[in-house]
Amino acid sequence: MSMATGTSSSWMIFGLVLAMLSIAPLAAEARAFFVFGDSLVDSGNNNYLATTARADAPPYGIDYPTHLPTGRFSNGLNIPDIISEQIGQTHPPLPYLNPELIGQKLLVGANFASAGIGILNDTGIQFINIIRMFRQLNYFEEYQHRVSTIIGEEQTRQLVNKALVLITVGGNDFVNNYYLVPFSARSRQFALPDYVKYLISEYRKLLMRLYELGARQVLVTGTGPMGCVPAELAMRGTNGGCSAELQRAAALYNPQLVQMVQGLNREIGQDIFIAANTQQMHMDFISDPQAYGFTTSKIACCGQGPNNGLGLCTALSNLCPDRDHYAFWDPFHPSEKANRIIVQQIMSGTTQYMNPMNLSTLLASDSITN
Ligand SMILES: *[C@@H]1O[C@H](CO)[C@@H](O)[C@H](O)[C@H]1NC(C)=O
Ligand SMILES: *[C@@H]1O[C@H](CO)[C@@H](O)[C@H](O)[C@H]1NC(C)=O
Repeated sequence: MSMATGTSSSWMIFGLVLAMLSIAPLAAEARAFFVFGDSLVDSGNNNYLATTARADAPPYGIDYPTHLPTGRFSNGLNIPDIISEQIGQTHPPLPYLNPELIGQKLLVGANFASAGIGILNDTGIQFINIIRMFRQLNYFEEYQHRVSTIIGEEQTRQLVNKALVLITVGGNDFVNNYYLVPFSARSRQFALPDYVKYLISEYRKLLMRLYELGARQVLVTGTGPMGCVPAELAMRGTNGGCSAELQRAAALYNPQLVQMVQGLNREIGQDIFIAANTQQMHMDFISDPQAYGFTTSKIACCGQGPNNGLGLCTALSNLCPDRDHYAFWDPFHPSEKANRIIVQQIMSGTTQYMNPMNLSTLLASDSITN
């Protein structure tokens, strides 16, 4: 009896020591994480806004740990959730508008993204009340003031300098602006190549502002192959294939984004920004879905009409039984499985996918000079 007690209490102490050992390095290493952009990375800010651009009803979240909708445009985890896991955080940063984002939770970071937004203020106007990029950046500034009151200005500056920042924006400037309706205002104002140049120059200003606000490790993603998502296959597909026009837009936009990012790094004299070629990552499983374990990349798991690509994913939509077999969860957004493949490439892809380096290299090269 006393033997058993002795054994169990020494196991308890051993367990405690183990727990302390495993907590200590994590606390030292886990960095804050900030997220900016659109529905690909929104984790629920729009739930708090009067807008139709939200994913807070079933079957969204069907494979989330709680099996409940959260506002993520995914069956389960989204790209920020998986990146958060990969950098050793125990919880992904909360949406900035979530009232639970107070006190110590602020130190994990914050997610400012809002579904429907674009680089331009006039993108997504049909969604009315969404957090446009300039406001996401203003919130980032406000966030820093709030954190300063907890840990002081110097510590806040360090927290931000050491943090990982993700920005995913641009797709909506095509889908929910230039190509939203035939003869849209922007398409009458600009030929496509000039529109792309304009977007890139505005995107550059957003990245400079992030830099000025203290961001030093910034992951910038391009758009996916916009013309090949189930929504475009259903609405604009040419001969059952991808929409040629949107593919042309993606082919113009993504390389110029990489060039702009390289130019910024040169100007600053440091590799602050790394660009993810999400177009190529996506294209891989669109051209050979079986190689990635998908049955299809042409049909959304949740939706209706051709390719399940029309309208929204709702409780009344068709719903596939196994989401892991689908590259697309809904007409526009990748499944959790696809998000995992994308993040894998972001972490350890070659320069074909990541420029000038992959995320694990960036995070390992922790020689941050401010
Ligand atoms: C968007 O609106 C804000 C606030 O009115 C303004 O400061 C910003 O310059 C605008 N951005 C663009 C790209 O027009
Ligand atoms: C990317 O990451 C992996 C794993 O960390 C590394 O071994 C590899 O060399 C990197 N690739 C490039 C091209 O930087």
